[in-house]
Amino acid sequence: MSPPSKLVRVAIPLGVLVVGGLVGATMMDPRQGYAPEQPILFQHKKMAAMPNWVTDANGKEVNLGGYDIPCMYCHTMVYKGRHATLPSTDICMNCHRTVGQDKEWVLVLNGYWERGEPIAWIKVHDLPDFVYFDHSVHMNSMSDEGRNKVDCVDCHGDVENSEVVTIENPFNMGWCLECHRKPEMAAPTDCVVCHR
Ligand code: HEC
Ligand code: HEC
Ligand code: HEC
Ligand code: HEC
Ligand code: HEC
Repeated sequence: MSPPSKLVRVAIPLGVLVVGGLVGATMMDPRQGYAPEQPILFQHKKMAAMPNWVTDANGKEVNLGGYDIPCMYCHTMVYKGRHATLPSTDICMNCHRTVGQDKEWVLVLNGYWERGEPIAWIKVHDLPDFVYFDHSVHMNSMSDEGRNKVDCVDCHGDVENSEVVTIENPFNMGWCLECHRKPEMAAPTDCVVCHR
């Protein structure tokens, strides 16, 4: 017996998709502008942004910016796997065992650490399960001139200078395809690439 034709193998999952998509659309999943309240007020701009030292009214040097911590320090898998991953509390405690111990939210952080309880960060971006996405493929894709074709900012906006992470782009099929169709991206557009 011959294996099912390619058309059948594609048609079945797509049938499921159409129904699933209609149900999904009525369920209000995360969309552009979504910025859930997190268990700890973690502000990227106080950590990932460039430092901005100024002298305050009392003549004291204060940093209004961040500490230029690279994205990769906390999102360790972004060049290596499908998921960028979130940092575990011990990554925070590499610094916070000694730093910021007079700050309200750092004290809350201590509490999680002492209880051995993971911080239940709420997912901001969350594609439906029938969509395949892989960070590493995007981050490692190079143009002929040897430049990265995409950067975090192209999809996530200026996280580095933001107070809370929001969904900055539509993150729907049209948006993915709009970029994939650009000639300089040379990215695939077959249905099965994203729906496998
Ligand atoms: C010191 C650690 C740290 C650094 C550095 C860091 N992040 Fe994060 N990031 C986090 C934590 C913790 C969360 C979860 C809380 C939240 O969503 O605000 C997060 C959340 C995110 C999210 C949303 C995740 C989701 O649920 O969808 C994105 C996107 C993101 N970071 C991108 C970046 C980018 C881009 C950089 C570099 C410019 C960066 N981060 C640097 C710790 C970090
Ligand atoms: C590489 C070192 C480093 C890492 C890793 C790090 N931080 Fe920080 N964080 C700092 C420094 C430095 C400050 C500023 C402390 C100060 O101003 O006294 C800070 C400040 C903070 C503040 C207080 C902001 C304010 O001004 O009120 C919070 C909350 C915080 N960090 C949470 C986290 C969390 C959560 C993680 C892990 C996801 C983390 N940090 C990882 C270095 C780090
Ligand atoms: C081509 C677009 C694109 C680029 C570039 C990109 N991301 Fe993402 N990111 C996504 C999508 C799509 C999701 C949601 C994935 C899901 O729900 O399965 C996501 C989710 C995340 C999350 C949530 C946790 C996870 O792994 O799903 C973090 C954190 C994150 N991205 C960080 C980053 C960082 C840091 C960079 C740059 C080093 C980056 N992203 C570059 C599209 C992108
Ligand atoms: C800003 C541009 C951009 C956006 C937005 C984007 N992509 Fe891509 N995508 C690329 C590039 C570039 C490649 C890699 C092309 C190459 O080098 O082969 C790629 C490749 C892929 C691949 C192929 C992976 C593999 O295993 O070969 C998948 C799957 C994919 N993207 C899914 C998505 C999905 C799903 C979204 C939307 C949530 C998305 N992309 C948004 C630029 C983008
Ligand atoms: C570059 C990635 C990508 C490619 C290629 C792609 N899709 Fe999608 N598709 C998505 C994403 C992302 C969603 C989720 C949309 C959402 O949640 O709003 C989706 C959702 C869907 C849905 C659910 C209904 C809806 O609109 O939400 C159907 C049906 C679908 N795709 C069919 C297809 C078909 C047929 C093709 C080929 C012609 C295709 N897709 C190619 C990324 C892709």
